Amino acid sequence: MKVFITGGNRGIGLEFAKQLTEKDWDIYVGCREPKKADKLKKIIPEDNIILLDVKLEDSIRAAVHVLKTKLERLDLIINNAGIIGNRAGLNKVEIDDHIETFLTNTIGPLFVTKYCLPLLGKDSTVVNISSLMGSIDDTSGGSYSYRISKAALNMVTKNLQEDLKGKGISVVSFHPGWVRTRMGTPVAPVSTKRSISGMLKVLETKKNIDGKFINFKGEELPW
Ligand SMILES: NC(=O)c1ccc[n+]([C@@H]2O[C@H](COP(=O)([O-])OP(=O)(O)OC[C@H]3O[C@@H](n4cnc5c(N)ncnc54)[C@H](OP(=O)(O)O)[C@@H]3O)[C@@H](O)[C@H]2O)c1
Repeated sequence: MKVFITGGNRGIGLEFAKQLTEKDWDIYVGCREPKKADKLKKIIPEDNIILLDVKLEDSIRAAVHVLKTKLERLDLIINNAGIIGNRAGLNKVEIDDHIETFLTNTIGPLFVTKYCLPLLGKDSTVVNISSLMGSIDDTSGGSYSYRISKAALNMVTKNLQEDLKGKGISVVSFHPGWVRTRMGTPVAPVSTKRSISGMLKVLETKKNIDGKFINFKGEELPW
């Protein structure tokens, strides 16, 4: 089984790489600085680490071109790369921050999926790592750029599912929990180990996930 993970050099993406390696998957990772991806190099062959900036269409196109020289089919894409954006409140919202966060968290996953489409087929899965902070039902204010980008990512999930269901491809949005990473901070209650093993358990059964917004425990969330 073959997976392409975006932003797998640290945090949640790195733990996906770790746990899928233990399950004997072939792992391919796109990241911005492959040469500095030391933790990743200990887990997967250096050749499988591909330069990728998900904000840039040319970079996505080039990364997928490299990927296509290495494999003919992907069983799984994990659109994980993401940024938190400006956490400040209404007085501090900035247009540049909104553009960067939207490009990274929303447009990036859409275009990675678009360019990878020839590699996807029956029973392939596209995972978009979303966030409860993008749930319109669950907002507590602030973090505008992040919340908007993840709410829109959920629409990417729903739209892709509609367009790809005829090909037997599943698309799902996951909330990984509040996880101890650079983004999640050290006070987050959930370890990467627990979050990722939970999501992989859900993906193993693939029961009732198509076009859904689900947390790492497999519970469905409100959009
Ligand atoms: N941690 C949480 O509590 C939490 C909760 C809900 C959702 N999430 C989501 O989970 C995903 C992973 O987050 P994390 O917690 O693991 O955060 P993290 O430790 O900050 O890692 C973010 C990853 O995304 C990569 N990245 C950022 N911008 C990129 C770009 N333009 N192109 C390629 N890679 C890029 C980073 O690479 P660099 O090293 O190059 O910066 C890094 O590998 C994100 O989508 C995040 O929104 C996290």
